Amino acid sequence: MRNREFGPTGRGVPVIGQGTWRLDGDRAGAVAALRAGLDAGLSHIDTAEMYGEAEPIVGEAIAGRRDGVFLVSKVVPGNASRAGVVAACDRSLRRLRTDRLDAYLLHWPGQHPLEETIAGFEALKAAGKILSWGVSNFDVEDLAEALAIAGPGAIACNQVLYHLQERAIEHAVLPWCRSHGVALVGYSPFGSGDFPHADSPGGRVLAGIAQAHATTPHAVALTFLTREAGTFTIPKTGRADRAIENARADGIDLAAEERAALDAAFPRGPRPRHLPML
Ligand SMILES: NC(=O)c1ccc[n+]([C@@H]2O[C@H](COP(=O)([O-])OP(=O)(O)OC[C@H]3O[C@@H](n4cnc5c(N)ncnc54)[C@H](OP(=O)(O)O)[C@@H]3O)[C@@H](O)[C@H]2O)c1
Repeated sequence: MRNREFGPTGRGVPVIGQGTWRLDGDRAGAVAALRAGLDAGLSHIDTAEMYGEAEPIVGEAIAGRRDGVFLVSKVVPGNASRAGVVAACDRSLRRLRTDRLDAYLLHWPGQHPLEETIAGFEALKAAGKILSWGVSNFDVEDLAEALAIAGPGAIACNQVLYHLQERAIEHAVLPWCRSHGVALVGYSPFGSGDFPHADSPGGRVLAGIAQAHATTPHAVALTFLTREAGTFTIPKTGRADRAIENARADGIDLAAEERAALDAAFPRGPRPRHLPML
């Protein structure tokens, strides 16, 4: 699995990771899927205090292999006061049965002043409970505010909505992150289950490229979504076979004309007024 430097952290992280939202159905199956993903090299696991039972499930999946995982969790904005961030992190660490997070993110911009949230993150970093911190669902204005508070080299990543049918981040957020050395983690790479139908024009383009590479349309999508330097993606699956399939996407080498065909089939569209998020 190809690693990329994760923003300013100096850590190499696989370009494809594992999401955990709505992973709380069949617990044993979810644990097995996460472990199959880890075995296949998907060692970046993304979770959040908001994802119900996901943190305990991740804790079970990574038991005994914590050092091989790049573990990310998120604080909800309502908990993101200076003291609230620290308390929320402690709760997440307990649920995850670990002593540290590799990155801890503010889930989306909220009501607490960003200075406070960042002060909480820095306190957690000084205590060794998190190795880096980042943000999620931040548009360029929010990113500029975070940069002004924290200074260069402090924001590890910005996790944002990014899939074939939602490419808004390519207008300004991705260029901003690239020029400031902030990792861009795309979430919901399969449209959160709303993947282009096989019979749609875009679905047919995906199928044709997948066939040429003896792979699947989902794998082609992951490859396309991580084509730019500094980008990562975190598909979620509760199935071991699909975790392995998602990991194989890393080996696909799309030709320039295949990228162009995907670009045309799933156009970026105009820049929306607000950054789309789920
Ligand atoms: N920061 C944020 O605000 C935010 C928001 C949303 C999501 N996220 C993160 O991003 C992660 C991914 O996004 P998501 O969960 O919304 O959705 P997603 O990864 O876009 O799509 C998940 C769906 O795709 C299916 N799937 C996965 N691999 C597949 C494959 N190889 N072939 C066919 N179907 C496949 C899954 O079904 P099965 O499980 O049945 O395989 C599930 O229905 C989340 O889990 C979460 O960690 C972050």
